[in-house]
Amino acid sequence: MSTPPTTSSPEEPTSNADRATLEAASSRRTFAIISHPDAGKTTLTEKLLLYGGAVQEAGSVRSKSRGREVTSDWMELERRRGISVTSTALHFTVGDVTFNLLDTPGHRDFSEDTLRVLAAADSAVMLLDGAKGVEPQTLRLFEVAKARNIPLLTLINKYDRPGLDPLHLLDHIEETLHLKPTPLTWPVGIPGAFRGVIDRRTGSFHRFERVAGGSKIVPTTILTPEEAAATEGEAWATAQEEVELLDAIGANHDHESFMAGETTPVFFGSAVSNFGVGLLLEALMELAPAPAPHIDVDGGHRPLQAPFSGFVFKIQANSDPRHRDRVAFLRICSGHFERGMKVINQRTGKPFTMSYAHEVFAAERSALEEAWPGDVIGVVNALDLTIGDTLYAEGPVEFPPIPSLAPELFAFARNADTGRVKQFRKGLQQLDEEGVIHLLSRVNGDPTPVLGGVGQLQFDVAQERMKTEFGAAIRLEPTPYTTARRTDETGEAALKHHSQAEVLVRTDGTRLAVFQSPFVLQFFQDRNPDVLLDTMLTR
Ligand code: G4P
Repeated sequence: MSTPPTTSSPEEPTSNADRATLEAASSRRTFAIISHPDAGKTTLTEKLLLYGGAVQEAGSVRSKSRGREVTSDWMELERRRGISVTSTALHFTVGDVTFNLLDTPGHRDFSEDTLRVLAAADSAVMLLDGAKGVEPQTLRLFEVAKARNIPLLTLINKYDRPGLDPLHLLDHIEETLHLKPTPLTWPVGIPGAFRGVIDRRTGSFHRFERVAGGSKIVPTTILTPEEAAATEGEAWATAQEEVELLDAIGANHDHESFMAGETTPVFFGSAVSNFGVGLLLEALMELAPAPAPHIDVDGGHRPLQAPFSGFVFKIQANSDPRHRDRVAFLRICSGHFERGMKVINQRTGKPFTMSYAHEVFAAERSALEEAWPGDVIGVVNALDLTIGDTLYAEGPVEFPPIPSLAPELFAFARNADTGRVKQFRKGLQQLDEEGVIHLLSRVNGDPTPVLGGVGQLQFDVAQERMKTEFGAAIRLEPTPYTTARRTDETGEAALKHHSQAEVLVRTDGTRLAVFQSPFVLQFFQDRNPDVLLDTMLTR
């Protein structure tokens, strides 16, 4: 196993301030968790916070069963459906390492949100249910992470209960994701009679203790191989044989291929029993990359110690009913952030003062005085910020736009209350800026706005928020379109008189060619091979 470098920054510091920035950056780990709903993401998040010392007792972020106030689920709709719609940035420190955990919505319909969050993460933990393996939403999110080429660590969760055979799980991961698993821990005991794991780096045995709820840190009993052989008998011998097999097939961690997104170190655990959480945190400290110089639109790299810069990857409005506000989440790419500093929005060229930057912890906020590359800050009430905006203090820079998915569902949005035209327009525009839906207009003269998205829940959220936040009830009517591609003026001209397709224009001027079926798209494409029809969009 190769040893990772402790910092990803190749630059030489030239001053004390530079040194401080590079040091702070090298101690940051900014990551997200991707999983299928119910695999245990909320549980794991809580346990990471518990082990990271950010909460004294797990259960404070959310508890489904006890019906407690759901602090990271803030909308009525979320509460009713019991799903987490919004992303939250959690910041905690373990020893010398500062973690930024970017929460991603698990539901398929919010994949666009996840795409944006992953644009701000340097690595991700892929969480699998040990009884289910790779599920549909894991696959979808994995593809999103793959497109970003970020390194992935894998935690196979719920190993306290009957699940799939570990060797079978490895095959399954490799076959489904074309990603080579390289276990760093290996389970002892058959699924359903889990005894603990072998730490393949040291050969020691971490004994599994079943705990109820695991609201407090559980000390781990670690045994030497000899002690484990004596206490675990046959289960230990079998696990040893399997580890030898892993060695023989070369399923060993290799830092280069991990960083290239070709292999994934695998851990086995039980988040509910706190088992494996400490090992995962250690792995994140040791293996997950620190922030590296961020690539700009011209392909150059913004050095970490360059003056402050960052980009907006998420906008969240009215998240706290006590303060009607709008928070722009910014990932810092370079320099040292200090509250009150003046920055420039690259898109508009306008300067503004970041007086109200916040560190965000679920729904709790605390004013943030300083932050460093890799950190995520919430800028409160910076009304003219939109997703993808670059901010910088000095030395102009523009970071690449954030990718978004081509919508697959479209609906006409009709104003149900003609007395509230202003609110109707304002609400739709705001939801578009936040990336809740794509706001589109027709080029055929019909002024009815069209909403686009990848899942029905996006439309439900839009409808609910239009009513509750903007006082503008909307009626959504289906359109015949199911497939969209990004196009240009030539595409618009070619589709002008088409009976089963048309062009819709997004608020930022992006043209979307929409088709009634993939077949119609294919037919058009065959006849017009030179017309731009791209699946990737940006914000
Ligand atoms: P999600 O955010 O990915 O949707 O999953 P969440 O953490 O809410 O976990 C889904 C269910 O799986 C929860 O049970 C949770 O307790 C359980 N779970 C999580 N990790 C483990 C684990 O390691 N082992 C086992 N056996 N179960 C686990 P629930 O009944 O839906 O909620 P609750 O009543 O336990 O709160």
